[in-house]
Parts: sequence; structure tokens; C-alpha cells
Amino acid sequence: MNAILEMRGISKSFTGVKALSDVNLSVMPAEIHAVVGENGAGKSTLMKVLSGVYPHGSYDGQILFEGEERQFRTVNDSEALGIIIIHQELALIPLMSIAENIFLGNAPTRFGVIDRSAVFEQSRALLDKVGLKDNPDTRIADIGVGKQQLVEIAKALSKKVRLLILDEPTASLNEADSDALLNLLMEFRRQGISSILISHKLNEISRVADRITVLRDGRTVGTIDCHEGPVPEDEIIRRMVDRDLESRFPKRVPKIGETIFEVRDWSVEDPLRPGRDAVHKLNFSVRAGEIVGIAGLMGAGRTEFAMSVFGRSWGRNIRGEVQMHGKPVDLTTVPRAIAAGLAYVTEDRKQLGLLLDEDIRKNITLAHLNGVSNRGVLDDIAELKTAEGYRQRMRIRSSSVYQDTGKLSGGNQQKVVLSKWLFAEPEVLILDEPTRGIDVGAKYEIYSIINDLADSGKGVVMISSEMPELLGICDRIMVMNEGQFVGAFQREEASQEKIMRAIMRKEILQ
Ligand SMILES: Nc1ncnc2c1ncn2[C@@H]1O[C@H](COP(=O)(O)OP(=O)(O)OP(=O)(O)O)[C@@H](O)[C@H]1O
Ligand SMILES: [Mg+2]
Repeated sequence: MNAILEMRGISKSFTGVKALSDVNLSVMPAEIHAVVGENGAGKSTLMKVLSGVYPHGSYDGQILFEGEERQFRTVNDSEALGIIIIHQELALIPLMSIAENIFLGNAPTRFGVIDRSAVFEQSRALLDKVGLKDNPDTRIADIGVGKQQLVEIAKALSKKVRLLILDEPTASLNEADSDALLNLLMEFRRQGISSILISHKLNEISRVADRITVLRDGRTVGTIDCHEGPVPEDEIIRRMVDRDLESRFPKRVPKIGETIFEVRDWSVEDPLRPGRDAVHKLNFSVRAGEIVGIAGLMGAGRTEFAMSVFGRSWGRNIRGEVQMHGKPVDLTTVPRAIAAGLAYVTEDRKQLGLLLDEDIRKNITLAHLNGVSNRGVLDDIAELKTAEGYRQRMRIRSSSVYQDTGKLSGGNQQKVVLSKWLFAEPEVLILDEPTRGIDVGAKYEIYSIINDLADSGKGVVMISSEMPELLGICDRIMVMNEGQFVGAFQREEASQEKIMRAIMRKEILQ
């Protein structure tokens, strides 16, 4: 059988960075082909070359699709052949509805005008395929990033697809939704459609991939064939990273002290559904030196809870009280929350986390300039040292700390956001999906820094959809469902199964 896609000897440079050197990739018909590698290895760049985001002439090498050499000048050229790419950074229009986004530019018409009911009906059918139950008239701005990802996929399905490219599609999805998506890819395979899947979730890769191509530092390390049986994750990791990783989670002996942060009877009304609480009468606390996880399915209200506490950045009619060190604190605006010692690292780094036109150095020190100043005057050398320290420890792949964050790979941007808040050393740090899209090696470093923070007596709250991660680093895990806590487990007693059971049982904790 002939390959449907062959990329030969692809090289691509940006000013100062060689992102790809002589990369080869071949995809067979009806194949799920995974592409893996550390943050900054060149995965997204390779897919942008393939889809014409980087036009012919801006790279070296050859692209053959269905046996013929292709020279795409724009994304439209590759789409016309059925090569559909869903980018890592979503490209939906926030103020338009789900249906409008799906059919943007190719809406069904009737006598020359857009046929609204057909748009609605067809959107409904596409949303069913990806398992999204929301009304197609809902605005994109009003659904979470996880659901936005599903809308992107529904949108792709509205076009003729021969080769579907998914750049980290499941990064923001919970397990059930990821499963549905992977099943969808397997269904495509049965229909003869090929897909390229980029993901840092190696368990998913080893489950569905027919073959896996590994990139490291912009070069092809090799392609692993999975037809002989499942490939162990450790083997994939060994090829991805050029160093040994002994375990996934750093060891730590917790030293837990007094309660430093306490939320009482916290209720928040959903701005979209007046009269209904998205978060209802929550009681929550964190002690000094403690890492508390919040588990739950997408839509459980975890992000809404965190954002409503952090400067009331979400929700209306917020009721309840927050205390720090036993005293009520005013967290009614974001600056007040930061001044009180609270920090919240969002799951949506593009929206709320980074200044993309500023360099890595400025972004890291921004939230804590006192830490790099002398009597109110910025100390350039201290600033540089601090930023360089994080750059190395977090393995932020860049030419230097002077590189603009907007030009970093997705995972490396996330590392900058994290560095910024870790450096700010808040009393209580709330992390919302901190390792989303981050490679295995860097995750270990992030866990180590979180541990250091806890060991210095701070409190850490970790919202994550990756249960192994919560089980691996948290001292206590709270389980949330429909805006309320339905389970609480100490480290020793927690297990994936118990957490899932608590979610199903829905017995509300008092
Ligand atoms: N527009 C750009 N200008 C300059 N450098 C860039 C640009 N886009 C990407 N790079 C660099 O090219 C390299 C590869 O980036 P790419 O986004 O392909 O990585 P990736 O494998 O997708 O990583 P991740 O897992 O973090 O998404 C990185 O070092 C990145 O900084
Ligand atoms: Mg990428």
C-alpha cells in the first residue's frame, strides 16, 4: 500500500531558531499516526508546514499527498484536498455562536441566503458526533476551552476530510470526552480516513496509534510500529528525551501546619442561568505546606469556584466568606486578591496569562517586581538571573530570555506562565490544569517546584483532570461534582476508583 502522505527532508528556520532539520514523516491510508516529542521539538511547526500555514517556499523539502508533489500556498490549498488541521491554539470567534463558528464561510444557503434552520440542524448533527450537548446557539465565549475543542472538531467534520490533523486535541478534555474523541478517530480509521495525532498523553497514544513518529530537537528520531502489540510508555519516553527519567513524581515528605486559607459557605450564581448556583455552599481549606487537589469532570464547577474566589473574576451574586490566617480578607478584585497573597494560574494561558509581545524575562518577573528590585529600582541583573534560572530549570526552549513569549511553542508558553506565579511566591497558589500540554520531562520539574513551594510553608491548590497527577503529588484530594464537594480523600486512601465512585454517587459533603 502506498502512503497517503509523505513529507521528505523538511527543514524550517525562524530567525535564530532551526525548528525542523531534515524531518521525514509518512502516513498510510486509514492510519492513526501519532507524532510525539518534548515541548518545542517541532511538532506544531511540522503540521503548519504540511497544511500551508507556512507556504511552499518558506521551508525546504518535499510534500507528497496521494502520490503527487504538492506546493500549498495557503491553508485553503491543503483543505481543498481534504487535509484538515485543528490547531493547538483554538481559532474560534468568541462572540459568535457554536453554529456560526462551525459554518463560518461555508454555511448552507437557500435561494442565496444563509439557511438558519439548516445551519442549526446540521450543527446539531455534527455536535452529536463529537458528543457535545450544548445548544448550537450558545456563544463560544460562554463555553469552556474543553468544549471549544469539541466545536473545532465538529467544524472540521463539516468539511470533506481525507487527513485529519489534531494538535493536542485532548489536552483540555476530561477522560470521558477524550475517550469519545479517540473513539471518533478509530471510527474514521474504519471509514478509511487517516489522522495525525499530536499529544503529550502517552497512554492515549499507545492505545490508538498504529505508528508513532518521535521528534527531538527538530529532528526525526524514528518511527515506532505498534502493530506487533502495544508499545510501553517508557519506551516512547526514552526516545523523546535524551536523559533518564527515573519516576514521574518527585518524592516529598509533607510538613503540614495550620490552616492558612479557608472558604466558607461559598455560593456563586451562574451568570447564564439566573437563579441557579454553579457553586453551592462550598467549604474548603488549605493548610500551610499542604497541596490540595480538586478532582472532577469537566463542568463540575472547579474553575468557576477558583475564579469566583480570585477577585470575583467569574459569576454573580457571590456569597460566602474567605479567611486567610484566620482573618476575613477582601478578595473582591484581582489586585486585592493578589495583594492578599492569592494567585491563580489559569488553564487558558492565551486569555489571561501572558503578554505575548513581551519577552520571557519580563513575563516571569512581572507579578513580583519587588523580588528583583533594590529600594524600588529594578535590578536588571537580578531580573536576568531570575528569569534565566527558571528558563533552565523548566527547560523553556528558546534562544534566550529575551525571546518574545508569543513565539514560543505552546508548552513553553505554559512554562513561562507557571514560572511567573511560582516566582511571585503567593501564600496560596491555585493552579488550574498547570501541566496541560506540557511534556513528561518538564512536568517533573513543575512538580518539584510545586513541592518546594509547599515545603516553604505555602498552600497549593491544584485543579487537574489528570488523575494520576493528583494522586501523585497531592496530600489531600477534594472531589467536586455539580458545584459541590462529593468526596475528600487523604493521600494514603485516595485512588482513581474511589474518586470516580464519589463522582457517580453524588453524596454531598457537609
Ligand atoms: N513564529 C515563530 N518564530 C520563532 N520561533 C518559533 C516560531 N514558531 C515556533 N518557533 C520555535 O520553533 C521550535 C518548535 O516549536 P513548535 O511549536 O513546533 O514545538 P512543539 O513540538 O509543537 O511544542 P509543544 O509541545 O510545546 O507544542 C520552538 O523552539 C519554537 O520556539
Ligand atoms: Mg505544539
